[in-house]
Amino acid sequence: MIKVINVVGARPNFMKVAPIVEAMKRREREFTPLVVHTGQHYDAAMSDAFFSDLDLPKPDVYLGVGSASHAVQTAAVMKQFEPVVIEEKPDWVLVVGDVNSTLACALVCVKLGVKVAHVEAGLRSRDRAMPEEINRLLTDQIADLLFTPSADADENLLAEGIPRERIRLVGNVMIDSLYKQLERSRQSRIKDKLDLKDKRYAVLTLHRPSNVDNPLTFGRILDALEKVSAQVPIVFPVHPRTTKTIAELGFDERVKKIDGLRLVDPLGYLDFLSLYSGAQLVLTDSGGIQEETSVLGVPCITLRENTERPITVTMGTNTIVGTNTDKIVAAASAALTQTAKPPAGIPLWDGHTAERILAALA
Ligand code: UD1
Repeated sequence: MIKVINVVGARPNFMKVAPIVEAMKRREREFTPLVVHTGQHYDAAMSDAFFSDLDLPKPDVYLGVGSASHAVQTAAVMKQFEPVVIEEKPDWVLVVGDVNSTLACALVCVKLGVKVAHVEAGLRSRDRAMPEEINRLLTDQIADLLFTPSADADENLLAEGIPRERIRLVGNVMIDSLYKQLERSRQSRIKDKLDLKDKRYAVLTLHRPSNVDNPLTFGRILDALEKVSAQVPIVFPVHPRTTKTIAELGFDERVKKIDGLRLVDPLGYLDFLSLYSGAQLVLTDSGGIQEETSVLGVPCITLRENTERPITVTMGTNTIVGTNTDKIVAAASAALTQTAKPPAGIPLWDGHTAERILAALA
């Protein structure tokens, strides 16, 4: 029997862990999965909604660390996770993605001599000002087994001196969740609720500190949104960090005045899938959304200077545009007038990544 602690912490972790835990439950004679939630995200809309939407079992252990500075948050996760690992004595700990909880839990394991596997290893933006890039680099250096989504990630790891035998190219586990939930998401009423017609609206998400904590950058993005929203209505599910900085930077009035921009609360997995799969265009600074839109063939404009997911540009529908106002407006106008690229058939992004991960662990 292989006992595995599956760590979730923040919103983008839930859709990566759900298919893995489900696959382990299907092979219950071989695997005993536990779910540990660090509580890095804790709001109902940022966390609870995802458990029900993704059929993810309630966490066996909830650490409740909450929000704090990066150092305090990372340290709090480490302090609370260590006794759980000592008590449970797992054969493997599985961490996903690049959030603070990912690095914190990997570090606890390596210090205790417990094997740790990193899912979504090898992605690199080459931007060390991005907190996630540090989490990626360090987690990959210390993890025993590295599950990569695409061949570029393998190359990054090899170039950093990581031995080939620690690397397994398994594909993108988030896409397992997407394919599994796509049909169910069609029952979502979110588009009716917001009075939206398929392919006649855009979706925006924005939460990176480099975009929303900086008044100049955020201001340039708002300038662009004023123009783009005159061409197409934009729905904007607002991340709590962004809600906070809109108030702190004094942008409330400006945002309210943009007629075509509709702010809504953060959405659950199924509502959000329903929303972006029907959109004519997505504007985002998220990593995962670049992948999801590529798989569905929805044009995506990334409001960042770089991406750790280059395959979404070369094979998918993603365009890296940055945060220059004119460039955003030009890219959006082009996307609204051109025929969209077909859905990307990226190798191993096929809905069976969790099974390949289990095969490697077994
Ligand atoms: C984190 C991840 C980021 C990921 C994002 C997805 C790190 C370094 N960053 O960023 O990679 O893309 O999650 O959402 O791990 N807050 C709430 N309720 C919550 C969670 C957060 O109100 O449930 C507010 C708090 O004011 C908090 C702020 O949002 O201070 C930021 O949360 P935090 O977890 O520090 O980082 P994110 O920006 O969410």
